[in-house]
Amino acid sequence: MTIKSSIFGSVHPNQTMKELETINLDKLPNPKGTFILGHYPNFKSNDKHVFLEKSVEECGDLYSINLVGQKFVVSAIPELNNEILKSRPKLFKRLPKINAVLQEMGISGVFNAEGDLWKKHRKLTAESLSLKKVKGYFPIVLEKSKSLLHKFEQFSKSQKSIDIQREFMLFTIDVTTAIAFGYELDAIHGKDAVFQKHLERIFMMLNERNFSPIPIWKIYKRTKDKELESSLKHIESTIYKFITQAKENLKNDPKLKEQPTNFLEALLIENNDGAFSDKEVYGNIFTMLLGGEDSTSSSLSWILYYLAQHPEMIKKVREEAHSIYCDHLTPKSFEEYQQLEYTNAVVQETLRIHPTTTQQIVQANEDCEIQGLKIKKNKKLILLNRFAQRLDEHFTDAMTFKPERWLKSKCPMHQNHDVSTIKAFGGGPRLCPGMNLALSEMVTLTSMICKQFDIELAVKKEEVSEKHSFIVYPENLYIKLSKIN
Ligand code: HEM
Repeated sequence: MTIKSSIFGSVHPNQTMKELETINLDKLPNPKGTFILGHYPNFKSNDKHVFLEKSVEECGDLYSINLVGQKFVVSAIPELNNEILKSRPKLFKRLPKINAVLQEMGISGVFNAEGDLWKKHRKLTAESLSLKKVKGYFPIVLEKSKSLLHKFEQFSKSQKSIDIQREFMLFTIDVTTAIAFGYELDAIHGKDAVFQKHLERIFMMLNERNFSPIPIWKIYKRTKDKELESSLKHIESTIYKFITQAKENLKNDPKLKEQPTNFLEALLIENNDGAFSDKEVYGNIFTMLLGGEDSTSSSLSWILYYLAQHPEMIKKVREEAHSIYCDHLTPKSFEEYQQLEYTNAVVQETLRIHPTTTQQIVQANEDCEIQGLKIKKNKKLILLNRFAQRLDEHFTDAMTFKPERWLKSKCPMHQNHDVSTIKAFGGGPRLCPGMNLALSEMVTLTSMICKQFDIELAVKKEEVSEKHSFIVYPENLYIKLSKIN
């Protein structure tokens, strides 16, 4: 991929402040757009991230776009993006629109909190998703993985083409509701479809409202807005019942305080000083459902998309599984999961080349200077994180899927391998707190699938496309699994 150098070029620490100060963010180059809507027609399509990435070739790695009058600076400069992510929550916040949309739905949690409130939410959430806690949740990951594999076995017998994104979504819904508040949903086998239907509707509407230029629902309520209200009520009343139940369980069983069985219990234990209201506990449980499902299921789908094209890698994952958990169906412990080094490399490589979050949008809280660049209060920036992860200057032969580059033994010292550009889980103090949980799900399930099945694409590789809807999903990805003897 060639990049046209911008007026900014690639920011280098040695670059003088004087040079950087001369850049006027209001006079950046911009891609071709329309008169009134600006770049909105390009932006609202399924592949808006591709439009933004391609525009780097046209305009350089710092440019601006205009969405119906709203200006955004777009940065594909990893050093600048890194600094911005690191300087949150003081200097930058998430785009306030996402907070407004979530608040309207009655959700206040760590994802949409800012400033001191965010610090309060973050401490509690990070504690409840710490590695120690994730280890405690691991039996749930194993149980749900077994359940999904059982279903896959049926599919393989009938040689059915599998809508893999859908199946992984059901899996992550089951894992996340069980871990979030101990709800045994069994969406994998189509049970309690109502809860799942309500959740899916909320996620869809969140995405729609977040990208809508005009809040039509505030002017008049369409059928889908009324349906959303009813879905929110259903989910809220279910979660509140679990909060009451969990409080009761903690009172009756003091042992739970040492090893909570789910995120809600962990949250209530961490909240022993009562700093959080039930509404805030609800907000964080909901946030966990939101954060834990789509991104993990989409990443899993991309993993299988690549493995299906590389039988030799499936074989290596399988050999590793045999060498670590032999005749068992699953790793026998969290420690065994942690030994799956090659499988982990497959996951890391997928997150590098196909992260589900390709970009992040932030807004400046105050006038500030980042890497010498003067940024005015309220300036909105789109950070194109995926761009750098796919450049040869950061990863040798960057557009080739090569898990080996992540192995300790094969670390190519003499080749490009710049992990500081990896932002699949975001960066700085707001780095995804669910990362350890997500990795445990992805590595374990990938290992278990390869141990038992050969994987093929059931469609042509070119027929699989990306759909950008809050995160980047694979569209039209169908897989065939064949049980090996
Ligand atoms: C492959 C799976 C996942 C990916 C790729 C992913 C990615 C991300 C990214 C890019 C962010 C934004 C970070 C930033 O602002 O710098 C984020 C935030 C967040 N994620 Fe994840 N995530 C995943 C799984 C999960 C899981 C399993 C959970 C919880 C169960 C979770 C909970 C959250 C929360 C609560 C935040 C907000 C953190 C904050 O604002 O302080 N994520 N995630």
